[in-house]
Amino acid sequence: MRPPRSVETADVAGKRVLVRADLNVPLDGRRIADDTRIRAALPTLRWLLDHEAEEVAVCSHLGRPKTDEDRERYAIAPVAARLSELLPDRRVRVLENTRFDAGETRNDDGFARELAAGMDLYVNDAFGSAHRAHSSTEAVARRLPAYAGLLLLEELEHLGRLLGKIERPFVLVAGGAKVEDKLGVLRHLGDRADTVVVGGKMAEELRHDNPLPYPVELPVDVVAAAAFAPDAEAKVVPYDGVPEGWLGLDIGPDSRERFGAIVRAARTVFWNGPMGVFEWRPFAAGTEAVARAVAEAGAAGAYTVVGGGDSVRAISELGLADRVSWVSTGGGASLELLEGKVLPGVAAIPSA
Ligand code: 3PG
Ligand code: MG
Repeated sequence: MRPPRSVETADVAGKRVLVRADLNVPLDGRRIADDTRIRAALPTLRWLLDHEAEEVAVCSHLGRPKTDEDRERYAIAPVAARLSELLPDRRVRVLENTRFDAGETRNDDGFARELAAGMDLYVNDAFGSAHRAHSSTEAVARRLPAYAGLLLLEELEHLGRLLGKIERPFVLVAGGAKVEDKLGVLRHLGDRADTVVVGGKMAEELRHDNPLPYPVELPVDVVAAAAFAPDAEAKVVPYDGVPEGWLGLDIGPDSRERFGAIVRAARTVFWNGPMGVFEWRPFAAGTEAVARAVAEAGAAGAYTVVGGGDSVRAISELGLADRVSWVSTGGGASLELLEGKVLPGVAAIPSA
């Protein structure tokens, strides 16, 4: 994939610029649980302001809103507030959650036209959403002169390393909640990675039937809970022994040890997706063990990449973010890139 042309080649002085960022941060109710993605959007915004853009309109999706109540839950306001704390400048405004418009996920041209109205240039810096062909990532790039933002370019460069000649063993650790999305991608990744380790909700899904065309390392034990609650009664049970009506909310101690050992022995690691409901203390140990193992592998010289909103949140909360080679803002996007797919958000930008 040829690199897209950089915003640095654009003349933005006096221009009104539409920026698509991925400000889809993990939320704790209405509170931002991790602002990594907002901070990662700053260099491009600063560049535009420093080069005298007249106006910078930032747009992003937030969550996967479906119902009317979701309009409140996923309103962009807290994200906009955080951005203006980090970058107070009257030329910057944040548009409402792009997914509140039904056209967005259909890549509808009418919505793209609305986004482009009154704008001179479009900059896509939303690496985390570049695998989505949506109005704000794809259609709009055909409506305005389009450029890649600094984060998008940096991500392509770092993740590109995983597509080239890598040191082996290459261990891929997958977890997290977007099971359907990720199984599709993992199907094609078996031959790139030497070992694929699966934990979290995805492992639950594979308990009875592995639809992947290769063997995966699954948990041997899980922390089962009587209910989906932080203070639920919990106990360690074998992987296939979760009692009827109970839920597996983390990998168990033997799995932690096993996964940790596999990761520590790797020379290249890509980790996407937590091993359990790590936001709740009783179910955080699995994710924590993987995070520590990734950091240790890195300290021993492995090239380590952590991607996705939740894994990044976990690694940041543990204070280990500076101990991995690259913290990617993209989860699904990094996986699809790794799979060798052309990302629609990237393909829509003229190449350099
Ligand atoms: C992500 O969090 O992976 C991106 O922001 C994309 O979100 P989506 O999976 O809801 O499209
Ligand atoms: Mg995500």
